[in-house]
Amino acid sequence: MPSSSPAAPRGYYGRHIFFCLNERKNGEDCCALHNAQAGFDRCKAKVKEAGLAGPGKVRVNKAGCLDRCAGGPVAVVYPEAVWYTFVDADDIDEIVDSHLKNGQVVERLLLPPDVGR
Ligand code: FES
Repeated sequence: MPSSSPAAPRGYYGRHIFFCLNERKNGEDCCALHNAQAGFDRCKAKVKEAGLAGPGKVRVNKAGCLDRCAGGPVAVVYPEAVWYTFVDADDIDEIVDSHLKNGQVVERLLLPPDVGR
C-alpha cells in the first residue's frame, strides 16, 4: 500500500488522549482530587461504545502528572496537542463526540496556555 494513501492513519492511533490521574499522597492539590478518574472512565466507555477504540482510531490512556496541575483535571489529545480541562460527564461526552470523533476542537474546554503547575 502506498504510504501516501489518504486513508492511511497518521499513526498507529488516529488520536490519542491522555488523562492525568496523578494523586499526591501528601495532600497537595492534584488531578485525582478533581474527579480525573471519573473523566477517564467516562471517556474510555464512550469511545468504546461509539466504536472509536482501536488501531487507526482512538486510544484513551492514563498518564501521571503532566505538570499543568493548576488547571486540573487535565487531558491532552494528540496529534493536535490540544489541552483540555473538564468538570463533568457532559464535558467528556463533548470531547469524544466533537474532537475524538470528528476532529473539531471543543473551544469552551481549552486549558489556557499559561496554566502550569
Ligand atoms: S497532577 Fe495532574 S497535571 Fe499535575
